[in-house]
Amino acid sequence: MKKKLTVLSGAGMSQESGLKTFRDMGGLWEQYDVTEVASPEAWERDPSLVLRFYNQRRKQLFEVEPNAGHLGIAELEQRFDVDVVTQNVDNLHERAGSSHVLHLHGELIKARSTVDPFLVYELDHWALDLGDLCEKGSQLRPHIVWFGEAVTEIPKAVRIVEQADILVVIGTSLAVYPAAGLVNYVQKGTPIFVVDPGKPAVHQPNVFYIQEKAGKGVELLLEELKKLM
Ligand code: APR
Repeated sequence: MKKKLTVLSGAGMSQESGLKTFRDMGGLWEQYDVTEVASPEAWERDPSLVLRFYNQRRKQLFEVEPNAGHLGIAELEQRFDVDVVTQNVDNLHERAGSSHVLHLHGELIKARSTVDPFLVYELDHWALDLGDLCEKGSQLRPHIVWFGEAVTEIPKAVRIVEQADILVVIGTSLAVYPAAGLVNYVQKGTPIFVVDPGKPAVHQPNVFYIQEKAGKGVELLLEELKKLM
């Protein structure tokens, strides 16, 4: 039986692919005011500004590739039963070959209806504009969980983390809840590997820090995991 390994990833995972993180130097939230581009109030106030913000990010996503970190995580499936629980809205885990990816904060390559949240559409072009409507005639919005909106996938993520034999935390500052609280759902004694050039706080026993960027860090992680097999 393959051991269950859960990866909890954040923006740092995609930094080496050329996508900015949120809270690091030069990060997105230094350039943009969250309340103007990533909240339901912002959407009410100025939907064009919000659409432009996500169009730029989506255009960039179409131009970048998964990095060595993403590829290393996908490779883990050869030896482990891997679930990726990501805060990232990019599709780089899937493009690297990861089979089980749960997006907590939505997906940039999708749009959804503003009258029926279950009407979700895959986008084959980076631009989503005013006038792009759902089949019920409502304006389409980015399929993103904005600040102040419910993270509806959390119950699924908690069940995954509770069953993990190993938890790997990569490239997240663990500053945003409820995602950051997932580390507290591991079974007692479960090893937790944290791959990050910084040292995000994890208040659990059995935490092992690999203070490297994702690409190099995942390589070192593989060495550590071999000892657990
Ligand atoms: N490899 C690994 N980790 C990295 C790298 C890298 N190349 N570069 C930066 N990091 C680390 C930083 O040290 C930091 O701990 O990635 C983390 C990035 O943290 P944030 O910018 O806060 O991103 P994240 O934790 O994903 O943010 C959570 O906040 O803004 C919202 O919805 C958004 O999903 C996002 C959530």
